[in-house]
Amino acid sequence: MQVFTASGVSDRCGKALPSGTKRTRDWFMTTASTDKPASSPLAIHSAADLTIEDIRAAADRIHGAVVRTPTLHSKTLSDITEADVWLKFENLQFTAAYKERGALNALLLMDEERRSRGVIAASAGNHSQGLSYHGTRLGVPVTIVMPRTTPTVKVMQTESVGGNVVLHGETFDDAYKHARQLEQEMGLTFVHPFDHPHVAAGAGTVALEMFEDAPDLDCIITPIGGGGLISGMSTVARALYPDMDVIGVQAELFPSMYMSMRGEDLPCGGDTLAEGIAVKAPGDFTSSVIRDRVDDILLVSENALEEAVSLLLQIEKTVVEGAGSAGLAALLTNKERFAGKTIGLVLCGGNIDTRLLANVLLRDLARSGRLARLRITLQDRPGALFKVMREFEAHNVNIIEIYHQRIFTSLPAKGLVTDIECEARDRAQLDALITALRTKNYTVAAVESN
Ligand SMILES: Cc1ncc(COP(=O)(O)O)c(C=O)c1O
Repeated sequence: MQVFTASGVSDRCGKALPSGTKRTRDWFMTTASTDKPASSPLAIHSAADLTIEDIRAAADRIHGAVVRTPTLHSKTLSDITEADVWLKFENLQFTAAYKERGALNALLLMDEERRSRGVIAASAGNHSQGLSYHGTRLGVPVTIVMPRTTPTVKVMQTESVGGNVVLHGETFDDAYKHARQLEQEMGLTFVHPFDHPHVAAGAGTVALEMFEDAPDLDCIITPIGGGGLISGMSTVARALYPDMDVIGVQAELFPSMYMSMRGEDLPCGGDTLAEGIAVKAPGDFTSSVIRDRVDDILLVSENALEEAVSLLLQIEKTVVEGAGSAGLAALLTNKERFAGKTIGLVLCGGNIDTRLLANVLLRDLARSGRLARLRITLQDRPGALFKVMREFEAHNVNIIEIYHQRIFTSLPAKGLVTDIECEARDRAQLDALITALRTKNYTVAAVESN
């Protein structure tokens, strides 16, 4: 899995900010002024470089070239969460993610000379596809550097929308360094996936459209990777609805912005379902916007992300990737906090591997008791299995597969273990079957998936 770091290389998540500076929004334990002059050698931008006017201008600029996605009310998710839930379907963009907006805005703000020389990025994710698609459409050569370890399917997806993929190094950091080197050598323009006002302004157009369709939101819950999306959206929220709660969400495995804002040190890394927000070091510019305009950041578990992906497919019939489900995951995890409120969630991406999606759905069925593997100890004699199967029939539980194990068990030679994979209507039906089997003196255990 690739991990983007704003500075290129980082083994740890974003470090705590220096303390002793002014406090802005209440929830931050530590705040720091990152308001550096635009003329600093690193040309680091600050929150002041992103205004609602920038975002309105971005909306005009990209109008017609990105999909004007709908924001729709979800009756069933509202019932489940006891909040009033509105969903913005950014997974309906051509490359299935909101990233196109920022990439396109950055491309359109570049002068002709830069555009003709070409742009470069280091990413194996949604940014590379958005930049490749719009760059190619506009006649701008796009180079994307990815580590050699990148799955072929991601290389092909980027090439299919026009990107010229350069494979370099073993890790994402190697690829990043190489991209910065090519930027210098070939006179290309590096387009950052999140830490630039032009990119964040493009992302902010998501909020302009969302508030147009759902003008009565109390709160938005927005995924944070490096922080570009929430920087743009929070800027719109603060300008149009000063009292709106703006909440960010990160995966528990990658709490980089959360730590940076709170001055905490937590483990950071792992195989998250939400690789779109698996960022180890948050941006400097985005940190300054978040410090100024975001109220809180929540963390969500892998189980919550899986559940949210499954619910969105089952209920809304829409495919989201892990990062795209993070807002709903946060809502499901914090029901009491958001009960009774009108909440806006962005389904910010839909690029999920189909085999991974299949696994997520099956694991969700297992967690909810609709799919199970029961391990039953039997005596090795004719009719033993048949009697057990009659119990399944009596409880109307469907058998999918039977694994009868005589050799590889720790039981005596006359014993055997049978694993029966089955599907039930719900957990109650499954529990009734297990109770009935135990009443008949069978040893039964449900094999846990996680
Ligand atoms: C689907 C999806 N959601 C959220 C994000 C996070 O965006 P940001 O880095 O702007 O916080 C990304 C970033 O690539 C993404 O692809």
